[in-house]
Amino acid sequence: MSDSYADEVIQEVNEAIKSYVECVVPKLCEASYHLFTGGGKRLRPLILVAFSDLLGGRRDRAIKAGAAVEILHNFTLVHDDIMDNDTMRRGLPTVHVKYGVPMAILAGDLLHALAFKALKDAFRGSKYAYEAIDLFVKGIITISEGQALDMSFEERTDVTEQEYMDMIYRKTAALFMVSSGLGAYVAEAEEAVIHAMEYGKNLGIAFQIVDDILGLIGDEKELGKPLYSDIREGKKTILVLKALREASESEKEVLLSALGNKNASKETLTKAAEIIKAHSLDFAYSQAERYKGEALKALSSIKSVRDDRPLKLLNELAELTVKRRK
Ligand code: IPE
Ligand code: IPE
Ligand code: MG
Ligand code: MG
Repeated sequence: MSDSYADEVIQEVNEAIKSYVECVVPKLCEASYHLFTGGGKRLRPLILVAFSDLLGGRRDRAIKAGAAVEILHNFTLVHDDIMDNDTMRRGLPTVHVKYGVPMAILAGDLLHALAFKALKDAFRGSKYAYEAIDLFVKGIITISEGQALDMSFEERTDVTEQEYMDMIYRKTAALFMVSSGLGAYVAEAEEAVIHAMEYGKNLGIAFQIVDDILGLIGDEKELGKPLYSDIREGKKTILVLKALREASESEKEVLLSALGNKNASKETLTKAAEIIKAHSLDFAYSQAERYKGEALKALSSIKSVRDDRPLKLLNELAELTVKRRK
């Protein structure tokens, strides 16, 4: 994305994040700030600030709320990498690999609290402070449920597509929904909240489907995280579910020998990935396109455009969600 509006927002959000991740105990501070020093697309704050700008919100409030959702996102990543046994994130060793599991748990706890610190500052004295905090809290509860479902599906091979959709809505789309909704609340545009959240929800679903695709076809360097770890962990992505349904007996044997097998060789994982891709890649992309279309539809129902840059960015982010390579 080469957009000066987006660059400007990202820079302001990064400065705000830095001011919130305070350093009292140096090791804890380093562990908490570690992922921010890697890449990271800053998608959630971009969505939040763009909605606020689109609807005429105060920029200083939007930036703090943007910092809140990005800090919360990073908290989920730190704990997610422990749950998923992942060693690389944003091209860096994951927090638990670098600082140990106990410190990573604590860094997550701190980030969770710091997210609220930024959020309360963002909505200090705002008419919609209660609604904003309510949305944020409900979002976090939903993410926890999604992460628990994601883990429980590792043990099963009979997960339905409907269960998968509900799980990714919770673990991923909920935070996109919170971000777009908070943008509308910053702008005190109550009538736009529902459409903004509809955009976030559909975009978030498309985003996670593409994340599951990139875990099979991406470039590890570009992606900054390892390929095939979903297979090794037995994750029931939409691609795996379709492949399990359609595979021949011999293909199914390969799939079942790789899924959830922590000792699977790179060769076995690659073989399983080839089978999954052959059955599911087009289907998964078509599903992502469908949800992207729903997001764009929701965006088009929002009136009162103050500035065309945020609208352009929100349209581009939807396109990028499907086209991206990282
Ligand atoms: C990763 O999110 C976690 C998912 C919900 C798939 P992003 O792909 O937005 O991660 P960063 O912030 O750009 O690293
Ligand atoms: C993304 O989980 C959702 C959260 C982190 C809450 P994943 O486990 O699918 O995402 P990656 O692939 O590790 O980024
Ligand atoms: Mg993960
Ligand atoms: Mg996970």
